[in-house]
Amino acid sequence: MKALRLGDIAPNFTARSTEGEINFHEWLGDGWGVLFSHPADYTPVCTTELGTVAKYKPEFDKRNVKVIALSVDGLTSHYDWIKDINETQHTKVNFPIIADEDRKVANLYDMLHPNSDDKGTVRSVFIIGPDKKIKLTITYPASTGRNFDEILRVIDSLQLTAYQKLATPANWNNGDDCVVLPSVTNEEIPGLFPKGYTEIKPYLRITPQPNWN
Ligand code: BEZ
Repeated sequence: MKALRLGDIAPNFTARSTEGEINFHEWLGDGWGVLFSHPADYTPVCTTELGTVAKYKPEFDKRNVKVIALSVDGLTSHYDWIKDINETQHTKVNFPIIADEDRKVANLYDMLHPNSDDKGTVRSVFIIGPDKKIKLTITYPASTGRNFDEILRVIDSLQLTAYQKLATPANWNNGDDCVVLPSVTNEEIPGLFPKGYTEIKPYLRITPQPNWN
């Protein structure tokens, strides 16, 4: 199996999920997507993660991002566990969870790392763009819950690059100054960034975030 890299097309698949059979590319449609795996149902860290994602759904919706989770447990287990997530995390799971019992999707996306966890998937995250290309991958160990604020932060950065020709500097957060992409010439800047820019070095040009106050 070839490792998936940034810029690769996210492999398509069909799978059973808690919201019915899904053809991944059709389900993504024209928008952005996040596919994330967790080790198993009825595990403590996963319970908090899925509850958090349910609460963040409006933030994903605002950014035109669909989220879908995956574990190698079956649908009956998923449905029962969702009741626990809803109860303990005070939310309602509002996105599909893939039941990848035959590990088809986990293998396709290299989510099984047997030297780390011999049973379930590790905590993989794939952010996929409207062109179906992989824009980000991260892999967390089973014992570390993910920071979904960071995932939203990366989506904001990716969308600034895709739609505004901007990059984002170290520790950037929404509303902070951005970096003009090296491919943009100084002559193009006034038309693209009417708030102006500061040239710290010819290769380091800073501009206020356009879509912010
Ligand atoms: C979990 O909650 O998923 C988990 C916690 C510790 C080790 C492995 C998994």
